[in-house]
Amino acid sequence: MPSKTGRIAKMTAQEIRQAYLNFFKDRGHSIIPRALLVPEGDPSTLFTGSGMQPLLPYLLGQDHPEGKRIVDSQTCLRAQDIEEVGDNRHTTFFEMLGNWSLGDYFKQEQLAWVWEFLTQTVGLDKNRIFVSCYSGNQKLGIPKDEESADIWAGIFSKSGLSAKRVDIGSQENGYRLGEQGGRIFFYEDKNWWSRAGSPKDMPVGEPGGPDSELFYLYPQVKHDPKYGRLCHINCDCGRYIELGNCVFMEYLKSKDGFIKLPKRNVDYGGGLERIAAAAIDDPDVYEISLMRPIISTLERLSGRTYDSNHTAMRVITDHLRAATFLGIDGVVPSNKEQGYVMRRLIRRAVRFAFDLGIEQNFIEEVTNAVADLYAPDFTEVSDRRHQVIATLTKEEKVFRQTLRKGIRKLDQLSIQGRLSGDDIFVLYDTFGFPAELSVEEAFKRDLAVESDWRKTFAKRMEEQRARSHTAAKGAFKGGLGGHSVIHRKYHTATHLLYKALREQLGDQVIQHGSNITEERLRFDFSYPSKLTPEQIKGLEDSVNAQIKRDLVVSWAEYPTDYALKELGALGAFGDRYGDKVKVYAMTPKDSDKPYSLEVCGGPHVEHTGELAEGGKKFKIIKEESSSAGIRRIKAVLV
Ligand code: SER
Repeated sequence: MPSKTGRIAKMTAQEIRQAYLNFFKDRGHSIIPRALLVPEGDPSTLFTGSGMQPLLPYLLGQDHPEGKRIVDSQTCLRAQDIEEVGDNRHTTFFEMLGNWSLGDYFKQEQLAWVWEFLTQTVGLDKNRIFVSCYSGNQKLGIPKDEESADIWAGIFSKSGLSAKRVDIGSQENGYRLGEQGGRIFFYEDKNWWSRAGSPKDMPVGEPGGPDSELFYLYPQVKHDPKYGRLCHINCDCGRYIELGNCVFMEYLKSKDGFIKLPKRNVDYGGGLERIAAAAIDDPDVYEISLMRPIISTLERLSGRTYDSNHTAMRVITDHLRAATFLGIDGVVPSNKEQGYVMRRLIRRAVRFAFDLGIEQNFIEEVTNAVADLYAPDFTEVSDRRHQVIATLTKEEKVFRQTLRKGIRKLDQLSIQGRLSGDDIFVLYDTFGFPAELSVEEAFKRDLAVESDWRKTFAKRMEEQRARSHTAAKGAFKGGLGGHSVIHRKYHTATHLLYKALREQLGDQVIQHGSNITEERLRFDFSYPSKLTPEQIKGLEDSVNAQIKRDLVVSWAEYPTDYALKELGALGAFGDRYGDKVKVYAMTPKDSDKPYSLEVCGGPHVEHTGELAEGGKKFKIIKEESSSAGIRRIKAVLV
């Protein structure tokens, strides 16, 4: 935007967010509010990790009440990135600017609009924008995306830019082939987007498609050969930063390959923080207007400079932004699921602050700094800020009380040169050190860590859980708040149904959603065709048989990898969970081998026999299509 002096003023992150929403509103899009960080009605994933996640049903074909053109800015949390935080661009929490065409416009409009927005509205340097397109996959019958490349070539030529095309293939190839003066680069799996990753990793029923990404070149950053010999746009050295991704979502994974979705969609996701960093021509996202005031608060509190303390200040800034928004969205620190991730974020922030010499309570001031930045644009932040500050400072106080002692304990353990799973459990149980934090501390001290510490740790956890479970049982009789008996029964029946589906129809059945009311359960799953009356009868019989066997229902918490890979617990989206998950087991009385193992938050009944109380039986009342490749079952206990 031109200022009085005629120079182009640099936009703030807040201005970019607003400008983006307006840009697409002017092009017929409805602005929708962000979804919560904790997905509603989707127990398969702990956090909203991309803008498309809350819109999944509409990408699969359902009509969106706001129409075919949608725009938003979605707060996202990627807890799996927690340990990458500390460099100049990785964060666990970020905002994803998103525009969607739900069976409306396609490549032509999308690429032209994103180009116009970035170069004209935000004013980025056109010369420094590079793009990638999908190289195609012959085996899958998905063609090379020449169409997008042609559209880009037209856009570049209008801007007076050369548009040489270069075939790269895999990311590894990139390090061998380099930039070659290209502007449009073709990659294989790097230019395919689905929640599950590459085409071969997608479960049946999962949507995805080729994508086209935009990168910004920071010529001031020198390539770091530790990543590979030559730099290329998908290199991780930080010379090129991805700004956004236009996904052309038109495929659905089927049993024997890919089919077309009922409608062609566009799913664009742009990283607000990264675009804002490009706007101020600084590769460090922590310098943008939504971050720098937090860093400045830390400089003031510690009496140290950001320049000499990059890692610690970045970690604290990222983690407390994430924890603040988790608090806004109703999460409280705990030892399970979202609460555990929140606890880990806060404790990690306190630990890093300790390294900065901040030994007094500081979270209130930092959380206030975060809230000041978001309150003008998110009313929920101003509404809930005091509550959130109370939650975060309480956690800080609890952890700070034992932090010194825990660090002393770790120093003592350093003498033995090795950290075992048992030590990690003691640090967790007595000093409140999240397991991963102890492992990080061990690395800092050059301590060897027991290779399968997760197993030992999980075992100790389970033993402790068994002890406290027995103690808590009496106290909770009569039901946990908000969950009626019938609700629990349907929840347990849902697990039995899922297991029966997998047994009878095979592993291609993947849960796609589940919803329970006082009247019925509803279960969506991937399967290509309508079920026959015999199949339905078979499912009912199987569930009723397991009810009659009166399986014992129990649960324990495990590290996620262990639960999914070693225990083989069912969980729809492996890479979308946090670090730990709760696993429900349903086990015959005379056996220790569970019939069903499923990642789930609960609650459930204690014995499956309870489902038959009053002479009731499990019955499927409806089996229908929910969207392409997805079936829906409604069932009752009558
Ligand atoms: N779904 C794509 C992503 O997360 C684009 O929004 O990158």
